Formats: sequence, C-alpha cells, structure tokens
Amino acid sequence: MVHQDVIKKIEKLKKENDAIILAHNYQLPEIQDIGDFVGDSLSLCQEAARTNAKVIIFCGVWFMAESAALLNPDKKVILPDPEAGCPMADMVKPAELMKLKEEHPDAVVVCYINSNAEIKALSDICCTSSNARSVVESIPEDKQIIFIPDKYLGKYVAEKTGRPLILWPGFCIVHQRILPEHVLEKKTAYPNALVLVHPECSGRVIALADFVGSTGKIIAYCRESKEKEFIICTEMGILHALRQNNPDKIFIQASEHAVCRNMKKITLDKVITSLETLQPIIEVNTNIQKDALKPIQRMLEIKIKKGDINGK
Ligand code: 13P
Ligand code: SF4
Repeated sequence: MVHQDVIKKIEKLKKENDAIILAHNYQLPEIQDIGDFVGDSLSLCQEAARTNAKVIIFCGVWFMAESAALLNPDKKVILPDPEAGCPMADMVKPAELMKLKEEHPDAVVVCYINSNAEIKALSDICCTSSNARSVVESIPEDKQIIFIPDKYLGKYVAEKTGRPLILWPGFCIVHQRILPEHVLEKKTAYPNALVLVHPECSGRVIALADFVGSTGKIIAYCRESKEKEFIICTEMGILHALRQNNPDKIFIQASEHAVCRNMKKITLDKVITSLETLQPIIEVNTNIQKDALKPIQRMLEIKIKKGDINGK
C-alpha cells in the first residue's frame, strides 16, 4: 500500500503540472496503485491519444512512452527511467528491415508496437497483442505480409488468420523463460486451474492454453470467469491487478522467472522526481516523427473484431 502522504504529494504535483500517470499492467504494485490509468499496450496508446493533460508520466518501457510522444508532439511525455527498454524491440535494426523489404518489395509491414520509432517509420501499420488479428485481416488477401519483430505472436496470428506471414526471429526474453514443463508442473498441483497465456509465449506453451490474450484481455477474462483457479503465463506484474480485482480467486504464476527487469526500473521515487523536474522527456528524432506516427494512427483506426486473437 502506498503511504497516504506519498499519494498526497503525487496528487499535488500532478495538479500543479497538469499531469496524468499511465501505467502498464507489468509495473510494480505501488506504481499500478498510483496510476490514473493502468492497462495493456493498446489501451495505454488509446489513452495517450485521448488525454488532455499537458504532461504524461509514462510508467512502462521506452517504446510505449515513445509511441505516446509520437501521438502527442505538443505534450511532455516522461519516462521516469530512460533505461527502461524492451530487448525485443532492439532485435530488429533499420538496415536489416530495409534489406527484408527489398527482398519483398510489395509486402505490407506489420510492426508489433514493441518496436523502436526508426522501425515504425519503415512499417505500414502497427499492432498489439490485443488487435494483431484484426490488423492482419485488414490487409488485402493478395498482399504478402512481413510481421516484425515477435516470431511467436506472428506464428500465432498466422495460425489464427490462415495468412502466411513472413516472420522476424525476434522474441521476448521474459516470456521465453516460461516453459511447458513449468505449466504442466502447476497443472499437476492445480488440476482444475485454467491456463491463461500471453501470445508472446512460445507455441509449445500456447498449445497448453485454455485462453490466449493480451494482459488486458487476461485481466478481463479472469474478472468475467466463473472459475476459481488460474495459471498465469505472462510477466508477474499482472498478478497484482488480478489478485486485487478477484480476492476470491486463486492465481498461480506459471514461472517465477517471468520478471521483466525493464518494467521494474520504474520506482515510486523516480516517478516523484519526474513529477518534480518534468524530466526525462522522451523526444523522437524530428526526421522520422511523421513516418513513425503513421502506422500507429492506422492501427488506432482499425476496428477490432470481437475476440480478435483471444481463444485457444
Ligand atoms: P500487452 O500489450 O499485452 O500489455 O503486452 C505488452 C508487452 O510488452 C508484453 O510483453
Ligand atoms: Fe519487452 Fe518482454 Fe519486457 Fe514486454 S515483457 S517489455 S516484450 S522484455
């Protein structure tokens, strides 16, 4: 529980600076508790696009704050620790992507939001794990599609849509640590528990799932489900919201190794310092701003089909 004095201080600083705190579902519990809005990548992006606040304190990782900065060129978007990156986003470099595009000159590039602005600027449309299926299905059937950088999400979406995606060999180092044997071990201990899996997990883990979805979709599924026990195959930060929202249900973390160190770099002290100093501001190179914003805007215009990639 965040101390009342700290909450008062944060509220005062937010008011003085016309600031809002956006926090991802993997943030530390105390950061989620002070968030004005807590959600998955897509809902955070939507919230960043709609807020009237002058300052956005983004409690997440670099690509999330950078997307918010692209959507809000006239606002201050602040990432309390600029070292909070995403290793998957760094797995694709502009020169490598340009080479692949030259090999497939007519292909449409679908870029997972977990990517850097330079990569977005070379892409046609973004997606998240909430809307990847709708995004891919929005592309005419006769078009080839390059899907970057997450090979696991890409493979899952290819199966769901029946579209032959050209995949990039990127992956999330955190979700890769969740192994099928971890899930099976937990399933032996909790035979009635449902297995809920984030699509950044490997295909072998997804094969064990009762439900696959983004962090936001997993939270919604648990809220609505009549079941009582759930094995959670994603980063451990999500357990905070799950346990708070559902005190009568049991949540079992599939693997204690599924910790994103980058997400945990955002601390209460750093958030307060950011509110006091309005630093560090995330700025995108002006030469690529326009091109990097376009695929995010296209994604936000897509109508998400019911269910999208949810399901088995
Ligand atoms: P969500 O879009 O499901 O919140 O996932 C973001 C992410 O970084 C997963 O590792
Ligand atoms: Fe990146 Fe994985 Fe951390 Fe998500 S959990 S921010 S994909 S490293």
